[in-house]
This record gives sequence, structure tokens and C-alpha cells, in this order.
Amino acid sequence: MSVDEQGAPLLSVRGLTKRFGGLVAVKDIGFDIRAGEILGLIGPNGSGKSTVMKLIMGIERPNAGSVKVDGVEIVGWLPYRIARSGVGIVFQYSRPLHWQTVLEHIKLALLPDSLFKLAADPHVNTRTRDIAERVGFAKVMHRHPATLPFADLRRMEMAKAITRDPRVVLVDEPFAGLTAAESEAFSELIRGFRAEGRAVLLVDRNVKSLAALADRVLTMYLGEYVADGTAEDVMRNETVRRVYLGGKISRRANARPKASATSRS
Ligand SMILES: Nc1ncnc2c1ncn2[C@@H]1O[C@H](COP(=O)(O)OP(=O)(O)OP(=O)(O)O)[C@@H](O)[C@H]1O
Ligand SMILES: [Mg+2]
Repeated sequence: MSVDEQGAPLLSVRGLTKRFGGLVAVKDIGFDIRAGEILGLIGPNGSGKSTVMKLIMGIERPNAGSVKVDGVEIVGWLPYRIARSGVGIVFQYSRPLHWQTVLEHIKLALLPDSLFKLAADPHVNTRTRDIAERVGFAKVMHRHPATLPFADLRRMEMAKAITRDPRVVLVDEPFAGLTAAESEAFSELIRGFRAEGRAVLLVDRNVKSLAALADRVLTMYLGEYVADGTAEDVMRNETVRRVYLGGKISRRANARPKASATSRS
């Protein structure tokens, strides 16, 4: 369907390019995501998937390109302003503050603009609890991250990302290190984002788990666009197949990443 038939995209990316010294981590990447749509982004290690997300969120500044949220250019804005404009991110690695409880983490994610004014607002407490329950946290709300199983830590990151009711949600490798049952629970959460009309950008290395969720898939390799379309289209693509046969894209990360990894990537 054409753009006219489906309405304007909520997230529109064009010509996104990022260089780190001599390395072009992201080269001329572009896509649209509409409300109630999940775009899957796949590619082997180091393809630039996380960098694309960080560029959208304003954590890294692009060398070139445009990022529009609901038609508004946000390139060059600071992350807090991008968050306020309706973009939420679930990082690939979590770095919780070990002295804060789960509930306090979610509350903090709600607060960054006007900490003191909002902290006293009873609405913030209610909203924080609602979100905790929504992601299945009712029982562990008052625990500290260090005492939580890995999947719950990831769930906490999901909760933080949706605290401000973002129209655009960026989810970086939510299934890495999860069991099949945990992955299914996370898939349900992500389908929920779509059902609520959010635009979802979902990164994964595993095309099968993505295929079950994403409406469309875009493949990257070494920073460059390779193919996009349905998961089936993409799997049929010659270049994608070559990378797959190399065993790079489809391999799941077996090791659970450390929750306290020093870098959020
Ligand atoms: N801050 C940085 N400084 C220098 N190089 C970086 C930086 N961030 C990423 N890179 C490099 O950019 C390339 C893309 O990295 P990125 O993390 O975006 O890949 P990815 O597709 O998310 O990989 P993975 O599947 O391992 O998560 C890699 O070569 C990486 O080493
Ligand atoms: Mg990554």
C-alpha cells in the first residue's frame, strides 16, 4: 500500500549516516514506520543496528541524515527532548542502579524533566505501579535489581521505555539470553505496543523470532542497507542468504549479557 493509503509515518528516517573515525557504522539508512507497525531490523554483529537506534534517540549524533517523529525533524536534539517528543528505547544491555528498587527505577524514568515537581505528584506513583503491573512486575516491585532474575531485569527496561507513553518504541535485542517461554512473554508485550498504535523498531539477530513479530524487515550488513520487505522476501534475498549461510545472522546469542555491563550498546 502507498503512504497515502496508510497515513503518514510516525517515524521517518532518511540518509542516516554515522562515522566513528574511519569506520562507517551506519551508511545512508532510511525507513518509515507507521502507527501500529513493527519494523524488524536484522544484521550480524557490528552491522550498525544499535547505532541506528542511538542515532534516533539522540545518544549519538549522525554525520548526515534526517529523523522525523510525526513529521517533526529531531536530528540534533538532546535525548531527553527526543524522549519527551515521544520516543522510548529499550537498550540492548541494562545497567541498573543497584541501590534503587524496581519501582524506583520505573519512577525515575518518568521523572527526568521536572524531578521535584513530579516526585510529589500522587499520579506519578499510580502510573508507576500501573506500568510495573503491566509488564508483570507486581510481585517484585520492591526488590532491588541485583536480586532479580535476568528476564526481570530486561522486563524492567521495557517498563522504563514505556513510562512516558511513547509513540515510537525502539527495542534492541529483547530476546537475547531469554528462554523460549520468556521470549514469548516479551513478544506478547511487543505485540501489545503495536496494538496500542505505537510504531516499533525491533532489533534482533535472529530472523525467525523477528519474522513472527515484525510486519516488515530491513536487513543491514556492515552499516549498509541490504534488503527490506516481508521476512520471507528478505530471506529470499541473495545477499541476505549469503550472510545467513555464513552462519552469522541466524545464530542466537547463548550467553546472557551481564546486567551490569559497563557500556550500553
Ligand atoms: N562509540 C563507538 N565508537 C567507535 N565505534 C563504535 C561505537 N559504537 C559502535 N561502534 C562500531 O560501529 C559498528 C556498529 O556497531 P553496532 O553496535 O551498532 O552494531 P550492532 O549491529 O548493534 O551489533 P551487535 O549485533 O553486536 O549488537 C561496530 O563496528 C562497532 O564496533
Ligand atoms: Mg547491537
